[in-house]
Parts: sequence; structure tokens; C-alpha cells
Amino acid sequence: MKIDILTLFPDMFQGVFSESIIKRAIEEKKVEINLVNFRDFTKDPHNKVDDTPYGGGAGMVLAPQPIFDCVKALRTEESKVILLTPDGEVYKQNRAYNLSKEKHLILICGHYEGFDERIRSICDLELSIGDYVLTGGEVASMAIVDSVVRLLPGVITEESHINDSFNNNLLDYPTYTKPRVYEGMEVPEVLLSGDHKKIAEYRYNESLKRTKERRPDLLDNQ
Ligand code: ADE
Repeated sequence: MKIDILTLFPDMFQGVFSESIIKRAIEEKKVEINLVNFRDFTKDPHNKVDDTPYGGGAGMVLAPQPIFDCVKALRTEESKVILLTPDGEVYKQNRAYNLSKEKHLILICGHYEGFDERIRSICDLELSIGDYVLTGGEVASMAIVDSVVRLLPGVITEESHINDSFNNNLLDYPTYTKPRVYEGMEVPEVLLSGDHKKIAEYRYNESLKRTKERRPDLLDNQ
């Protein structure tokens, strides 16, 4: 998979992509991630990428031209162009699965007070990572890249994400490691039994219980 991230702040991504699982996925060529500064595409003589809003109002608005030209330069028939915006579709695990099947993602990070409405016309999808407002789309696109890349074949073992929270609309079951007793809290007996059928049953029931308690809305969506 190839991912192009259009941002005015490419340095924000350095730490996230140079550690742990994403770093390994890049090194092993499971994913190619390019940070593209769309300021490089502006035709403004002073390198501007934004301007004041028509009709008045606070802040600056990203102009269409640099982003249009940047997307034009990168887009192929296999590209999915995604705009990060708080008024987009709320991002969920099933969308992460869909995106992990794509060949090429182009993620557009807005910044400042907003972006020219016409930018939406060149996007295939608009995504929000939750009902709160970030200073820009950068942190949102990091979350999307992270959640998609871990689903790419060979990045983590399939077993690790088959049991992820949100698969089958259920939260994950509780897990434990050694020691058997810690500060008076014991590992449930069934997990020590070696009886795989019983363990699977216990885990399913715990997932269901936890989902009912914490996220009953997930069960309504079945
Ligand atoms: N840009 C600003 N806030 C955002 C959010 N919640 N999701 C995606 N992009 C954003």
C-alpha cells in the first residue's frame, strides 16, 4: 500500500512513523508513506496557501489551488482521496478494514480555521476521528494510518487483530499475564485450566458483558 499525506507540517509525523510497528512495516516495504507539503504546489508569489474567508469571519481558510494541484499530481485510478475534517464520517474499525484493502490512500490534512468548500469536490471520502475539534487533520491522519497499517498482511499476526475490540461489534475481553496473584488480585481460574473450549466461552461472555456495560450502542448496531 502507498499512502500520501498532504500536510503543511510534515515534521509532526516523524516520531509516529519512526517507532515500533509502523516503522517495521515501512522498513519491510509493507507500506510506503510519503509526506507531501502542499505549500510546494502553490502558485502564489509569496508562497501563501490560505486567505481570509469571503463574507468575513475569524481566521484563515486554505485555498483550493495548492491542494487541487497536489492531488492532481498524485492521483491515479487506484487512489482513494480522503479529507480529514470534524464533519466527516466518524471513523470506525470497519472503515479501517475497508481502507486496508486499498492500493493508494491520499490523506488531506486541513489546518487553520478551515478549508475552501470546493476542496470537498475532489475527495472520495471525508473522515472524522471523533466529535471534537483538533488544530488540524495531522493527528487524525496519524490515527488512520496507524489503524490501517496494522491491518496490512504480515504487519502483525492475523490472530492479534482477529480478537481486536470492535470486531463483531464487541469490545475486547480482559487479558492477564504473570504473576498469578498481584496485589491480591487473582487471574481467573478458567484461564489456568488449559481447557480451550471453556476459555473461549469465558472470553466471549466477558466481551459481551463488557460491551453491555460500557458500549451498549455497539450491540444496537448488530
Ligand atoms: N480536523 C480537526 N478536527 C478533526 C477531527 N475530529 N477529525 C478529523 N479531522 C479533524
